Amino acid sequence: MHDTIIILDYGSQYAQLIARRVREANVYCELLPWQTPVETALALRPKGFILSGGPNSVYDPGAPALPDYVLDAGVPVLGICYGMQLLAHRLGGRVAHSARREYGPAALVVDEADEPLFAGWDAGDGRGEPVWMSHGDKVEALPPGYRPIAHSDNSPYAAAANAQRGHYAVQFHPEVVHTPRGRVLLSNFVHRICGCRPDWTPANVIDAQTAAIRQQVGDGRVVLGLSGGVDSAVAAALMHRAIGDQLTCIFVDTGLLRLGEATQVVQTFQQEQGIRLVAVNAVEEYLEALTGVTDPEQKRRVIGEKFVRVFEREARRLGHIDFLAQGTIYPDVIESAGSGRGAAHVIKTHHNVGGLPDDMQFQLVEPLRMLFKDEVRRLGTALGLPDSLVWRQPFPGPGLAVRCLGEVTWERLERLRAADSIFVAELAAADLLREGTQQAFAVLLPVRSVGVMGDGRTYQEVVALRAVTTEDFMTADWARLPYDLLARVSRRIVNEVPGVNRVVFDITSKPPGTIEWE
Ligand code: XMP
Repeated sequence: MHDTIIILDYGSQYAQLIARRVREANVYCELLPWQTPVETALALRPKGFILSGGPNSVYDPGAPALPDYVLDAGVPVLGICYGMQLLAHRLGGRVAHSARREYGPAALVVDEADEPLFAGWDAGDGRGEPVWMSHGDKVEALPPGYRPIAHSDNSPYAAAANAQRGHYAVQFHPEVVHTPRGRVLLSNFVHRICGCRPDWTPANVIDAQTAAIRQQVGDGRVVLGLSGGVDSAVAAALMHRAIGDQLTCIFVDTGLLRLGEATQVVQTFQQEQGIRLVAVNAVEEYLEALTGVTDPEQKRRVIGEKFVRVFEREARRLGHIDFLAQGTIYPDVIESAGSGRGAAHVIKTHHNVGGLPDDMQFQLVEPLRMLFKDEVRRLGTALGLPDSLVWRQPFPGPGLAVRCLGEVTWERLERLRAADSIFVAELAAADLLREGTQQAFAVLLPVRSVGVMGDGRTYQEVVALRAVTTEDFMTADWARLPYDLLARVSRRIVNEVPGVNRVVFDITSKPPGTIEWE
């Protein structure tokens, strides 16, 4: 069992970020709703608690409360923002109710330079460290036993501690990037204060997960749908490491994948990883089902249903199967445990082969369900998957069908694939694929425009280039790509892709736009 930190979620939009920062410090943590019962929490044998921020005031009727076990467990506690106010309110301090929020950067002056929480912070010059504030209420009197350890212009108690009890509280948000040394603070808390070992590493995760998979699956047979995306790829590699030939992967070539993708999947999994793989060529079937379909939602429905039918047919051919393995990851789990809303949840239904008929009863194996995306990637690398797969940008389940606006025909798909691969290759050559853009692709528009090539008039289709920067894909900004690069991409597409005579660049952020066009 790994040393574990429990983060109680009080509804902050940053709660997931706290968990990611703790994991980045190589410490296992779980993000649990604040109402989590005592048995569930203590079963994890936490070495510390972190209380997240949240939108409430401790004075609100029915405001989220502090469970007794947090104080009774005798392990360190870090309260962040609302978490700080909860501790103060509960332990006899005073929280001032405020109608106005303090939102934005502040300079934090550390008053107790040898506090372990602030090890590695630049105390002493009196100018302070930038931190991010986002709060309405604030603590005005500390509880008995607590003392201030840092202040800002607006908050005399920007950080406080009761070192005897291992209690720490900060008014600012150490988890966001606008608090540059926030990672150090969280790492100090989990390592120096809670005493957690840095044992959450890819090698340890692989060991622990392979053992867990073997125990769950026994000598049962497992099927897994490979989509070509990162999550199902890493799930497959991990399952294979654990149970070898008890795993069979099904890969459906829908004809809606990017250039070279289908070949790469077969090459990587069948030949390099030695995984049993059924590769189904369903291109004709998909194109036929999509004939005449132009409505985006209708496209998604047709593709989703087709996938389930093809997967079902192939899975039945394998004979008796006990388990269905899926690449569900932690944000999906949090998302569905929380409000149940959210794009991630809906988006996943296709990936996760929802909608299989009732008489196909599998038990689920979800070996990545406690991992964040960046952890999944690290695991993929540790399992020997190539960078081109591990660092692949997200790709929608319905594939190129939702980027081929209007009718989906083979000719138009090939046109789109060619344009897309030029764009992506140029981005890769400029080193902009991992850092500069989180998602970049071409879209084929159902529009023709007049052009001139050589001496002749052309009347051909338009390609739009979409490139965005984003942290979480819920909001996004259009990437400020260098003009030279855009010029090169445009020139190459018009010259090299038959049937396209114009290229445009999408400068819409999300919201109001979405990342995909359909
Ligand atoms: P939007 O277009 O909603 O996309 O801004 C947000 C992110 O989700 C991806 N996306 C999908 N992924 N199935 C998926 O697996 C889908 O139907 C789907 N639609 C959008 C999109 O590529 C972006 O990363």
